[in-house]
Amino acid sequence: MIKAKVADLLNSTQYLQEVAVKGWVRAFRSNRFIALNDGSTINNIQCVINFEKMDEALLKRITVGAAIKVTGTLQESAGSGQKVEVQATSVEILGDADPEEVKFTILSPKKHSMEKLREQAHLRVRTNTFGAVMRLRSKLSFAVHSYFQQNNFHYVNTPIITGSDAEGAGEMFKVTSFDLKNVPKNEDGSVDYKEDFFGKETNLTVSGQLEAETYALGLGQVYTFGPTFRAENSNTSRHLAEFWMIEPEMAFCDLDGNMDLAEEFIKYILKYVLENCADDLAFLEQRLAQEDKSKPEAERSPMSLTEKLKFVIENNFRRVSYSEAIDILKDSKPNKKKKFKYVIEEWGADLQSEHERYLVEKHFKCPVILFDYPANIKAFYMRLNEDGKTVRAMDILFPGIGEIVGGSQREERLDVLRDKMKALDIDEKELWWYLDTRKFGTCVHSGFGLGFERLVQFATGMSNIRDVIPFPRTPQNAEF
Ligand code: 4AD
Ligand code: MG
Repeated sequence: MIKAKVADLLNSTQYLQEVAVKGWVRAFRSNRFIALNDGSTINNIQCVINFEKMDEALLKRITVGAAIKVTGTLQESAGSGQKVEVQATSVEILGDADPEEVKFTILSPKKHSMEKLREQAHLRVRTNTFGAVMRLRSKLSFAVHSYFQQNNFHYVNTPIITGSDAEGAGEMFKVTSFDLKNVPKNEDGSVDYKEDFFGKETNLTVSGQLEAETYALGLGQVYTFGPTFRAENSNTSRHLAEFWMIEPEMAFCDLDGNMDLAEEFIKYILKYVLENCADDLAFLEQRLAQEDKSKPEAERSPMSLTEKLKFVIENNFRRVSYSEAIDILKDSKPNKKKKFKYVIEEWGADLQSEHERYLVEKHFKCPVILFDYPANIKAFYMRLNEDGKTVRAMDILFPGIGEIVGGSQREERLDVLRDKMKALDIDEKELWWYLDTRKFGTCVHSGFGLGFERLVQFATGMSNIRDVIPFPRTPQNAEF
């Protein structure tokens, strides 16, 4: 007897084998054919039962959503649509699913809206779409580790609770063990954090970069891959309050090396899923094509999902300076006709997602790396250029997604970094340890952050970021 996963059985040609398989009923028709899925693949295995010989009470319990164990022989299938099937000799009900209750859930076999699926996020992984997305997400994670491990990077775990604001954007969730009804106060009325658990003000990390930098300046090349948190009130299809970020950091590497790495890394990962997730990709591709049909002609994608992935793998990303991009945008039709919500008037303007998408989707029609941004719209740690007004920053923009990567060469000169922190009113005492790295063997170094969910969005073609993470955290929503 072989206890097997559906994926293995579907690939097997060992006919007449005795097998046992456990899974959830996806469909049951004509009292004879069970479509069984166990999560190992998008495909179901067909189990054929002989209802004349089966106990009636048992038969009634084979319902959509139920967990069952089927024992039988593996056979070449006579029907179309599958190569093999299991001719069942016995069925055991492991967990019932009452049809009267199932019909109010997303397990019921009909089309449900994405909103409805989100409301039942604990069940949605039993659907084809979410099964495919989550298996792909898992493979993408594996590819991330495999790329870095093959290329001499060390995996570091940076703290989730921190005392610093790495991005200086102030979008942090506070961490405290205070009883909020009775918070200790100083004489001037401010909160007395000395009394708090850590004896200071703490928050959930927005980025592991600053700590990763200290490790790169010892281990040489490192990467983080962990959850990060942002209390920005953005209700968009690309923002989460809790998301996973991958942050490589490299000593002795400048911005060009940083861009090269980011491009090679992304291509490796997408190639990996193309080569290893064929069934799930095929399903998602067909799903996307279906979704596209309901859109107006102009909004439809000219490429299929796999064509899009191949396009990214096979073509160079366009590297464009911020200044060049501003010229292109100033000259663009939507700018001249004031179609942009934020019209670009002059050099120095911060780019909004409408501008990024214009550059990627309308102008260049390929992934774009923008670099050398104005210093005053970027974070304090980025290296100042000789012109004194731009920094060695880079953002990678993707079609349909917008910004997928943000990174930079870091300011390694102690005096320049200090001046910058002073100008931005960042307390040196808070970041004494970060400044130490500039005192003891400082060197050119660079890194970037890739938003994992945005990558999963691109690879799966899912249009809303809430649908590529198991339990999304967004403003006003922390169910489950
Ligand atoms: O551009 P960001 O803010 O860069 C940093 O945090 C740097 N410290 C990274 C580094 O250099 N090590 O964020 C990096 C990426 C963005 O490009 C985006 O893909 C993603 O993280 N991201 C988000 N993804 C989902 N929801 C959000 N609210 C996100 N904010 C940023
Ligand atoms: Mg950014």
